[in-house]
Amino acid sequence: MATRRRPLVRLLLGVLAVALVLCCGGVAAGAWAFTRSGTDTVGQVDFVRPLAVPPLAPSRIDKQGRRVFDLLARDGRRDFRGDGRTTRTAGFDGDYLGPTLRAKRGEQVAVNVVNRVGEETSVHWHGMHLPARMDGGPHQMVRPGATWSPTWTVNQPAATLWYHPHVHGKTEEHVYRGLAGMFLLDDEREAALPLPRDYGVDDVPVIVQDRSFSRSGQFTKTRNSISSIGVLGDTLLVNGTVGPYLDVRTERIRLRLLNASTARIYDFGLSDGRPFDMIASDGGLLPRTARLDTVRLSPGERAEIVVTVRPGERVTLRSIDPDLEAGALADRFAGGRDRFDVLQLRAAGTLAPAPEVPADLVPSDRLAPATAAVTRRLEFQGRGVNGRSMRMDRIDFAATRDTTEVWEVENTDGTPHNFHVHDVQFQVLSVDGAAPPPELAGWKDTVYLAPQRPVRIALRFTDHSDPNVPYMYHCHLLWHEDNGMMGQFVVVEPGQAPGRPPTGHAGHD
Ligand code: C2O
Ligand code: CU
Ligand code: CU
Repeated sequence: MATRRRPLVRLLLGVLAVALVLCCGGVAAGAWAFTRSGTDTVGQVDFVRPLAVPPLAPSRIDKQGRRVFDLLARDGRRDFRGDGRTTRTAGFDGDYLGPTLRAKRGEQVAVNVVNRVGEETSVHWHGMHLPARMDGGPHQMVRPGATWSPTWTVNQPAATLWYHPHVHGKTEEHVYRGLAGMFLLDDEREAALPLPRDYGVDDVPVIVQDRSFSRSGQFTKTRNSISSIGVLGDTLLVNGTVGPYLDVRTERIRLRLLNASTARIYDFGLSDGRPFDMIASDGGLLPRTARLDTVRLSPGERAEIVVTVRPGERVTLRSIDPDLEAGALADRFAGGRDRFDVLQLRAAGTLAPAPEVPADLVPSDRLAPATAAVTRRLEFQGRGVNGRSMRMDRIDFAATRDTTEVWEVENTDGTPHNFHVHDVQFQVLSVDGAAPPPELAGWKDTVYLAPQRPVRIALRFTDHSDPNVPYMYHCHLLWHEDNGMMGQFVVVEPGQAPGRPPTGHAGHD
């Protein structure tokens, strides 16, 4: 028996040892993942390249008085880091990103979008108030080689908007390759204020994206296996520039910050902790200038900030570890402990004087939530909203033209999400029951959703009714959007029933 037992004991011991090794290995791997999961580039970025400023897109006025732009989506290649390794990219009118479109309130615009990327894509005008069939969402796909020419009249305040593809299930991929750009709107109210507005000089787009590169220089999309946030890159591109600096020649500089990353959330501030003046959020100027140390931007959000510099100094725009309010573990794996040096500002020895930023910007016309026609609740969880994943052929609800609605939006997951809605800009009524902070006091189209912290918003649906063509609402963490965390609504006339989304080549479902 003894001789027979010994191998058994040995076997048991062996199993135990293997289990121990596996277990310790697991712990070690976990610890490795824990330490490796963070990215910190503070103090490690060589600011050796001048910041690329996207050119202003040329336009012409046609016979009908419309301002007409041309936009060509195409494949490209770029050596981002100057080491000879070229990355396969895509861009509008160029290799990466696209030109800045610019129009005035009241103008009718038309854009001829030509698709040369070899597969279906679309161009969505993020933040724009326009008819649903011009919106460029997943129902307005442009086939390879085809041209799509949406037209609409700009009727909303001056703002920093942007454009990007919105392909059902493939938005992340198309944006990641480089298809995105800014769309600036101007109006008289903004023009009357003493603000920096010389494009590319003291009024500069800052499009922030995180990427990772493979050995051969290609963009890699490695998803963190612990957090389901999507792709977090370790290298920042600002307007497509790695390690950018900007020469500043005026006492004050206006930076139009756009988080065009697919998943990463930033908390932007200045390297010496000096405060800046935030003057605008997604949908335009704030009622009052907000003096802030940092501003958090989740994917899709914008903030216009004015930074005051002293002659000859260097100060860095930085992203400090953003408070994701998702709990220590989720925060860590979702990028909540990451820090980045973003853009170095190099002030000239003598600076042209610039007036102080006014405290009051635009009159605040608050929507009246008390008169809301409907209150809706939207829960973001798993792969859907209110337990349902996006379907191209299902309209989730209809809003009536000329009514105000209140939406209570809540992230009931453990992971970060955000909320974006097409067609209208909204006002934040409360965040987790409290009055919104100053940076959320103006018009918004995208807002961060920390887990278990409901955000109440008011929206007013004016003009552009169409019972058949839906607008989208979704999480703007693009991997989540692609996986179904999106829904569709239509704007109808009073008493009108919602119709059916058009079918046809747009069928992806
Ligand atoms: Cu920026 Cu539905 O998109
Ligand atoms: Cu949008
Ligand atoms: Cu999400």
